[in-house]
Amino acid sequence: MNPIKVGLLGIGTVGGGTFNVLKRNQEEIRRRAGRGIEIAMVADLDVERARELTGGEVEVVNDANLVVNHPDIDIVIELIGGYGIAKTLVLQAIEQGKHVITANKALLAVHGNEIFAAAHRKGVTVAFEAAVAGGVPIIKALREGLSANRIEWIAGIINGTTNFILSEMREKGLDFDVVLKEAQRLGYAEADPTFDIEGFDAAHKVTLMSALAFGIPVQFDKAYVEGITKLEGKDIRYAEELGYRIKLLGLTRRRENGVELRVHPTLIPAKRLIANVEGAMNAVVVQGDAVGPTLYYGKGAGAEPTASAVIADLIDVTRLQTADPEHRVPHLAFQPDALSNVPV
Ligand code: NDP
Ligand code: HSE
Repeated sequence: MNPIKVGLLGIGTVGGGTFNVLKRNQEEIRRRAGRGIEIAMVADLDVERARELTGGEVEVVNDANLVVNHPDIDIVIELIGGYGIAKTLVLQAIEQGKHVITANKALLAVHGNEIFAAAHRKGVTVAFEAAVAGGVPIIKALREGLSANRIEWIAGIINGTTNFILSEMREKGLDFDVVLKEAQRLGYAEADPTFDIEGFDAAHKVTLMSALAFGIPVQFDKAYVEGITKLEGKDIRYAEELGYRIKLLGLTRRRENGVELRVHPTLIPAKRLIANVEGAMNAVVVQGDAVGPTLYYGKGAGAEPTASAVIADLIDVTRLQTADPEHRVPHLAFQPDALSNVPV
């Protein structure tokens, strides 16, 4: 069988990691997907850099529209970020009947209802494992592993940049701005790091987990959001003296009259497992009624950890696309309209 053809939009930190891991592990990936996977086209603003990264093996274009409209492309991976051009391209790819894989939590948290509804109408997949907690397979856990449960609550450290900043400030006494620059250098931070440090990135992620866990539409605008910019070194030291650590937590839970969604710095007793999640690591606790508490831990940001999640989706979608058409099931976050009367 011919390889499935993939178009990659944006070959920056995550796009570069995705290209490299796909190449390095191509044999395992082909075996698991049941078919070869070929990055056939790459779009990036910096065509020269993209050509260098791909070693001249792939067609590189400057205009991403050429990729989403190309008749030979089966799957589009969107790794540009933001809500502007990324939204237009994702909707256009869906309109063209292509499956979409994205790590763009901002886009899905704000425009997910429109995007998932469009995908549902066209019978295509929108997969987004990489959008929450980087390499930690939390979307798969919520969608598949825990699907027998009534989820009661989810709480987690879901932003690597802020956890890295808080860890480095506590362990090394470094200044906020110095550590933020290092997080940017390491490829953890968003293009606009305000999204990380003001808590919006964590709120995007908790919004997506909430939609999946409770079967509600994405409702980012209802989230309470507070970041870490008001914290000072002395807050972290005082917390330490009292036997606590400060962590930026994302939380969502069922309440009698709706669903709660919030992100804010939280004092956690230092003995707790989650208080000891350091650096850019993420950890998510999910409480299900049947299974009880479950914990998911791993690298929440960076090129290859995130690529790991992008490629897992790519393998899933390839399997799905390759299956007998009668057995294809659209792979959506939630059924649009299900439980949509639950207030947040
Ligand atoms: P980068 O900024 O490193 O990469 C984005 C790439 O897209 C750049 O190469 C950029 O080119 C290119 N680009 C921008 N506009 C266009 C356009 N119109 N057409 C084609 N290419 C374009 O971002 P990341 O790789 O860090 O992030 C990508 C996505 O992944 C974001 O949605 C982010 O939130 C998400 N994500 C990131 C993680 C991480 O650890 N970095 C982890 C999980 C998710 P140029 O540089 O020339 O502008
Ligand atoms: N900026 C994000 C973070 C990238 O620091 O967690 C991973 O989503």
